[in-house]
Amino acid sequence: MKNILVLNGPNLNRLGSREPDVYGSASYADLASSLSELAADLAVSVELKQTNDEAELIGWLHQAVDSKIDVILNPAAFTHYSYALRDACAMVTTAGLKLVEVHISNPHSREEFRHKSVISAVATGVIAGFGLDSYRLALRQLAH
Ligand code: DQA
Repeated sequence: MKNILVLNGPNLNRLGSREPDVYGSASYADLASSLSELAADLAVSVELKQTNDEAELIGWLHQAVDSKIDVILNPAAFTHYSYALRDACAMVTTAGLKLVEVHISNPHSREEFRHKSVISAVATGVIAGFGLDSYRLALRQLAH
C-alpha cells in the first residue's frame, strides 16, 4: 500500500478556533478523520503530522526523502519566508518524489505578504483556496 505523508506547519493545530471566517470551523481532528476516511477509499495510507517548529518540519521532510514517501505540505506562515524549508522541499522533489503545497485559504486574495510563496517553485504542484478540500484534492492526486 502506498504511503503519503501530510505535514502541517505552525498554528494549524488550532484549526476550528483560529480565524474561522478564514479557515472554517472544522478542527484539526476533523481534518485527520476526513483524510483517514478518504485514504481508506483510495486504498492508500496517510500519516498526518503538525508542528509549530521549523526544524522539526525540516526533519520530517528529510525522513520522507530517506523513506521515498510523497508529501502533502501546508507550510502555513513558513510558506512566505522559510528558505530552509524550501531547500528541504527541493530535496523531496529532486529525489523524484512528489510534494504538493496546499493551503486552506487562497493566500493570493489576502494580505500582500501572503502573495509570495518561497515553496511553490520547488513543489510538484499547488492547491489553494478550497478549505480542507485542498488536502483531499491533493490526496486524490497523489493516490493515482
Ligand atoms: C495557510 C495560509 C498562510 O498564509 C497562513 O500563514 C497559514 C495557513 C492556509 O492554509 O491557508 O497559517 O497556509
